[in-house]
Amino acid sequence: ADERSALVDFKVSISDPANLLSSWKGGDCCKWKGVHCSSRNNHVVKLDLPGHGCDYNDVDMMMQVLGGNISSSLLGLQHLQYLNLSCNEFYGVQIPEFLGSLHKLRSIDLSRSTFSGRIPPQLGNLSNLRCLNLGWADYTYSMDITWLAQLTSLEQLDLSGTNLSTIVQWLPVVSMLPSLKVLRLSDCNLRASSYSLQISNLTSLETLDLSYNFYNTSITPNWFWGLTGLKYLDISWNGLYGQFPDEIGNMTSMVMFDLQMNNLVGMISSNLQNLCSLEKFYARG
Ligand SMILES: *[C@@H]1O[C@H](CO)[C@@H](O)[C@H](O)[C@H]1NC(C)=O
Ligand SMILES: *[C@@H]1O[C@H](CO)[C@@H](O)[C@H](O)[C@H]1NC(C)=O
Ligand SMILES: *[C@@H]1O[C@H](CO)[C@@H](O)[C@H](O)[C@H]1NC(C)=O
Ligand SMILES: *[C@@H]1O[C@H](CO)[C@@H](O)[C@H](O)[C@H]1NC(C)=O
Ligand SMILES: *[C@@H]1O[C@H](CO)[C@@H](O)[C@H](O)[C@H]1NC(C)=O
Ligand SMILES: *[C@@H]1O[C@H](CO)[C@@H](O)[C@H](O)[C@H]1NC(C)=O
Ligand SMILES: *[C@@H]1O[C@H](CO)[C@@H](O)[C@H](O)[C@H]1NC(C)=O
Repeated sequence: ADERSALVDFKVSISDPANLLSSWKGGDCCKWKGVHCSSRNNHVVKLDLPGHGCDYNDVDMMMQVLGGNISSSLLGLQHLQYLNLSCNEFYGVQIPEFLGSLHKLRSIDLSRSTFSGRIPPQLGNLSNLRCLNLGWADYTYSMDITWLAQLTSLEQLDLSGTNLSTIVQWLPVVSMLPSLKVLRLSDCNLRASSYSLQISNLTSLETLDLSYNFYNTSITPNWFWGLTGLKYLDISWNGLYGQFPDEIGNMTSMVMFDLQMNNLVGMISSNLQNLCSLEKFYARG
């Protein structure tokens, strides 16, 4: 009953012009759309409420989104493990700090949901978090990401589009996340400079997206050439200069490699033939 009333309060503060939550009535909240309960103890464990704001090909569909304020009544859902509010339109609302007190959370997806403001460092308290997707939230920023280093179970991190321009020490912070498989920091105003020679210990990393960042730095030496387990590497649109990197020949797991729109010169190395798994390779200058 407590968790049901938490959901009712959440619905009251949210705006829902397309009636996406029309099934939210009646006594058994486990039957409501997007609400999932544990089969063991009946607690609400999952809130799966993505909007249709990313259906860019269908304007009518795109209007079907939630908005308004996210009530702190959600704190009543202390067993919540999964929260998905992606592709909604919260227009300028900040990512709520109280999310950092939902200790069982394993997955948060607020991507493409037009949040803005500071990413709350309270999220660093979520030691069970495996997936944190705040990509393209809109006008979010962070001036201190040291809290990220506490998320030692993290496997997927997407902060694309977040303004991290004041952060110099970002590589040492993400290097504290030993289980990281997916790291997306596209268009974050990052600079590469001082880590050029640093060896990274992100040995589990399979996907690295650093596109649209560190303008005008040398492509090599660079820390990511040591990540020979990488399958997807996107370093396009970075204003990287120098010779086409020979190091690529050691990255034999590579499936997709995108280095287009940089300022590279020279010949594409013949050791590209070592990349037997390569399916896509973008090198447009
Ligand atoms: C959100 O809450 C603020 C402050 O409580 C209020 O001023 C605003 O009107 C609310 N916005 C919506 C869309 O309900
Ligand atoms: C959130 O929902 C969207 C839309 O269904 C889906 O594509 C995405 O994978 C979900 N996020 C997570 C972390 O499961
Ligand atoms: C969570 O993190 C914040 C900031 O990092 C901290 O001040 C707070 O004490 C932590 N604990 C809880 C339960 O929010
Ligand atoms: C990013 O943040 C910096 C420092 O706060 C600010 O000067 C800059 O204009 C911001 N960039 C964008 C694209 O918002
Ligand atoms: C990764 O390297 C950082 C510093 O470079 C170190 O503090 C951290 O403990 C290392 N992590 C693992 C899992 O070895
Ligand atoms: C890029 O770097 C080169 C060499 O350091 C420098 O001469 C040039 O002015 C830089 N260009 C920009 C746009 O910063
Ligand atoms: C490729 O890896 C080998 C063995 O680790 C190393 O000796 C060599 O310098 C690397 N080549 C490049 C181009 O980085």
